[in-house]
Amino acid sequence: MIELEGLTKRYGEKVAVNNLTFTVRPGIVTGFLGPNGAGKSTTMRMLLGLDNPTAGDVRIDGKHYAQLKDPLKYIGALLDAKAMHGGRSAFNHLLCLAQSNGIPRARVHEVLDTVGLTAVAKKKAKGFSLGMGQRLGIAGALLGDPEILMFDEPVNGLDPEGIHWIRNLMKSLAAQGRTVFVSSHLMSEMALTADHLVVIGQGRLLADTSMADFIRQNSRSYVRLRSPQRERLLDVLHQSGITAVEAGGGTLEVDGTGPERIGELAAQHRLVLHELSPQQASLEEAFMQLTAESVEYHAHADHQGPGDAAAGRAPSGGPPPGQAPGQAPGQAPGQGWGSGWQQPRKGN
Ligand SMILES: Nc1ncnc2c1ncn2[C@@H]1O[C@H](COP(=O)(O)OP(=O)(O)O)[C@@H](O)[C@H]1O
Ligand SMILES: [Mg+2]
Repeated sequence: MIELEGLTKRYGEKVAVNNLTFTVRPGIVTGFLGPNGAGKSTTMRMLLGLDNPTAGDVRIDGKHYAQLKDPLKYIGALLDAKAMHGGRSAFNHLLCLAQSNGIPRARVHEVLDTVGLTAVAKKKAKGFSLGMGQRLGIAGALLGDPEILMFDEPVNGLDPEGIHWIRNLMKSLAAQGRTVFVSSHLMSEMALTADHLVVIGQGRLLADTSMADFIRQNSRSYVRLRSPQRERLLDVLHQSGITAVEAGGGTLEVDGTGPERIGELAAQHRLVLHELSPQQASLEEAFMQLTAESVEYHAHADHQGPGDAAAGRAPSGGPPPGQAPGQAPGQAPGQGWGSGWQQPRKGN
């Protein structure tokens, strides 16, 4: 179990991690989700005692990292795949880690096998691709057979087969009753892996919820409409007590009424429709809206975008933990973020 309480980290003026309180529980995969720069890596570094909190506390099974004897047997972590001595072979890198934590040599062979690096065990780590480095980092995390595992953006640099492998690895580690805490900036990745979600933006907690609840709350379905007789259509819908919202590009969006009823109403009134399509808001969109609010809260000055998306909502900069905000139709997703965030970093 990992417990954070009011965990905060400042770098000068910058508040990288802002008063985070949540618990990471055993037996499930907990996804730690947030756009680049949200504070995920900083949080994980504080967990491992690599950075000191400005305020608050983080404990592993009730202890600070520094208080753990042979820490690799408690918690295994992959933070930065490049953080190793490039001149050492994969085997020697792991052997050094093993020896400093009282772990037998045979375990090095086991973990090399688990991550599929046995064939290159004698090769120097500096010649490794990013994907191979990730695998070696994961081998290091598994070395002490720890009850708690933490991975910072582990799929970066992995090929599709590698991504599939790490997903299954995380799930099986959780199924063995271990605590698995994994970060990502990709909602799509988390949706496939995590049982529980902790979402942060600008260092602040935005949601702490089960994946199932997040999906239930955010899988908004609606109907998109286009008609050359738009004004008349709006009147007809209005008279039937159906609210349509203008959604740009001449389209209308209707929540809470199925396409059958709308189509029948249009036919009754001899209205031409050019589009009548059921739509499903994606989780990616929900995630972007959630974090766009936190972006707005901190950087709203000369910046158009998330301010629009969040218009009309509470100015508090985000919903309370565990609660995703409702969505208004017609918001353009993803405004205010760098456009590159959706692409996994290139590797291999
Ligand atoms: N050592 C540091 N000195 C100054 N600022 C930092 C340092 N480390 C991280 N930051 C800043 O803190 C914020 C959070 O960074 P980080 O934890 O790496 O985010 P994430 O892992 O979610 O992408 C970023 O704005 C980053 O620039
Ligand atoms: Mg990071």
